[in-house]
Amino acid sequence: MKTALITGVSRGIGRALAQKFLAEGWRVIGTSQTGNVDYSDPNLKIFDLDLTLPKSIQKCTALVSTWLHEHGYKGIDILIDNAGAMFDEGETHLVVDKLRQTLEVNLIGTADLTERLISFINKGGHIVCLSSQAGSIQDMDRIMDSHEPYHYPAYKISKAALNMYIRTLAVKLNHENFDITVSAIHPGWVRTDMGGSDAPTTPEEASNDIYQLAISRPETGQFWYKGEKYPW
Ligand SMILES: NC(=O)c1ccc[n+]([C@@H]2O[C@H](COP(=O)([O-])OP(=O)(O)OC[C@H]3O[C@@H](n4cnc5c(N)ncnc54)[C@H](OP(=O)(O)O)[C@@H]3O)[C@@H](O)[C@H]2O)c1
Repeated sequence: MKTALITGVSRGIGRALAQKFLAEGWRVIGTSQTGNVDYSDPNLKIFDLDLTLPKSIQKCTALVSTWLHEHGYKGIDILIDNAGAMFDEGETHLVVDKLRQTLEVNLIGTADLTERLISFINKGGHIVCLSSQAGSIQDMDRIMDSHEPYHYPAYKISKAALNMYIRTLAVKLNHENFDITVSAIHPGWVRTDMGGSDAPTTPEEASNDIYQLAISRPETGQFWYKGEKYPW
């Protein structure tokens, strides 16, 4: 049985993703800020994780390591950095405190956790990070021309920075012959706490796309949306 570690499996896309992997016969290590989720499965193990707290990240990775070792499990085949936050949804200007908060979750905490988990990822493994169209610098050309409202700048900046982390990680792992693929994915506009009730895509539809990417071996260091490359 292969193992996937997915952050933020309590709700939204992460919850649907954990259930997809379990239904496909995977062992799933999930995280939530409380250490609990409202569903269970013999192949699901939950650890608590707050990406804003370095100690929580250290403790979570140490517990994952011990748990894998105690059960004789070989390592992690797929890591999905799904957990993310948007603190400035209604903002039309940059609020620096909200930028700091957003970067702690979407960039710094995510990068810290990923760096700590690399040594547990098996050869042929895949790191998939939930990015967003909102982080595409090229996509800003469309917004510039369309007069769409300028909103959630901190979130946009955090996902653009996450995209560069993903590319730098892909280059490093490639140069060091790690045999680990790294991908960014835009899940679409998804009906979750973050996406809101008007979003056209269900978490289940988004999780199917993410699952298909995660189990494939695409070109490393690319940004994907519905199976196609998306511009950075
Ligand atoms: N929904 C969309 O339309 C959309 C579009 C593009 C990209 N995305 C990206 O897709 C990912 C999932 O989004 P979603 O729509 O499912 O969001 P969501 O419903 O708001 O769920 C967010 C998840 O992230 C976790 N999380 C938040 N802050 C955290 C922290 N400080 N430490 C650890 N975990 C934390 C939450 O865990 P708890 O429940 O334990 O708090 C929850 O599981 C995010 O990275 C998001 O940026 C979403």
